[in-house]
Amino acid sequence: MAARQMIIGMHLGNGYGNLPGAWRAPSVDPQSYTSFDAKVRHAQAAERGKLQFLFLPDGPTHVGDLANEPPHFNLDVMVTLAAVARETKRIGLVATGSTTFNEPFNLARQFKALDVMSHGRTGWNAVTSSGEDVAANYGRRLPSSADRYARAHETVQLVQTLWGSWGKDAWVHDQASGRFANAEQVAPVNMSGKFVASRGPLYIPPSEQGQPVLFHAGGSPNALELAGRFASGVIGAAFTIDDARTQRAAFRASAERAGRNPDEIKFFAGLMTTIANSRREGLDRRITLSGRTFTQRASYLGQMLGLRLDPARLDEPLSPEQLAGARPSPGDPRSVQALKIAREGWTLRDVLAHGVIDYHPVIVGPAVHAADHMQEWFEAGAVDGFWVSPDIYEDGVDAFVEGVVPILQARGLFHREYDGATLRHHLGAPTQYGIDPRLAL
Ligand SMILES: Cc1cc2nc3c(=O)[nH]c(=O)nc-3n(C[C@H](O)[C@H](O)[C@H](O)COP(=O)(O)O)c2cc1C
Repeated sequence: MAARQMIIGMHLGNGYGNLPGAWRAPSVDPQSYTSFDAKVRHAQAAERGKLQFLFLPDGPTHVGDLANEPPHFNLDVMVTLAAVARETKRIGLVATGSTTFNEPFNLARQFKALDVMSHGRTGWNAVTSSGEDVAANYGRRLPSSADRYARAHETVQLVQTLWGSWGKDAWVHDQASGRFANAEQVAPVNMSGKFVASRGPLYIPPSEQGQPVLFHAGGSPNALELAGRFASGVIGAAFTIDDARTQRAAFRASAERAGRNPDEIKFFAGLMTTIANSRREGLDRRITLSGRTFTQRASYLGQMLGLRLDPARLDEPLSPEQLAGARPSPGDPRSVQALKIAREGWTLRDVLAHGVIDYHPVIVGPAVHAADHMQEWFEAGAVDGFWVSPDIYEDGVDAFVEGVVPILQARGLFHREYDGATLRHHLGAPTQYGIDPRLAL
């Protein structure tokens, strides 16, 4: 039997990269935010590395410093993936879509159309959305978590039912007989719940993988339950191996409670990368592009370490007295790593340049460090793979693909070729058309 290998996705965001200052890098076209050519280029780079999927987060709002930094998200995730689908062949295309602020019929139609267009490479990251600022864009208030998740359960089932409403073999398209479809196999769904309803049918035939694959992102008990029932992939966030292992186990247990095989749900931890020849070179790249934010961040780092840090002294390491008095904040799982880096003697500016306040673990330095991190987490049973977010897409995807991927391949931890053409195949997700009959019971 072949050894278990990891699955890797790549974050495809605003066109620049995860560093707030990525848009100002000399190698970057500052108009990449609106450039679909740029998104296609980054997707093709990930496909050269045989990565299994692209992940496009989305929270249709902008709350940030637009005067200095670009928005985080794509102009529109579905339009971006339509462009990417036409210029790539194998890589999976996973877009985020809100169950709270979309009608199931719209979701069903757009995702299945993309799945047909991409020949079975589409995934839907079904999220419930959070934040009043998102709700305000729809002229609404954010519903309670209970209501958002209740609507999410209804929405996913309705979307999957709509996907299955065009029967698997309904499309005849026989020119000789003049028969286009077996109309009796294209049936309305006539579903209505407390939150959503649709008559159907959805008039789109199956793709090469039947229908899109479900993903979820979120960590609450509600999120666990939703993912356990429906998701084949979980877009996760974890700062330690123990945390990731606990989360992965919880998602697997939830899938089992729903009557599924736990191997059907794959947990992907986030990883942010600055791949460089040396750690010093990587830190300098990050300082040049995003050092502007460090003065503000110093006070937060102080809270994480239980210290008062002076933002005017960014070029000094923490004193022995400070290090002796530091207490990692139990409320912030990043604090232990932050203190570990500080104890290595780096200046405050360098500590911040390590990304100790970022959303995911950050690797700054040679490719082998990223490969070691990924191997350790994978072999510890903490993850099924990763979703990787490069600092700058324009060269950071290539750096990952040319640096990290060959090391993982040489260690037998990552495949060398795509051996299938659909996202379902890449993930090992079981065949499904319409709703999962096990859950319908
Ligand atoms: C790694 C990760 C990625 C996420 N990506 C998105 C996203 O792209 N869009 C979104 O609206 N929410 C996203 N979420 C948020 C969740 O969907 C959820 O709304 C949030 O975690 C609140 O969780 P809860 O509603 O389960 O309490 C993400 C969450 C995690 C952990």
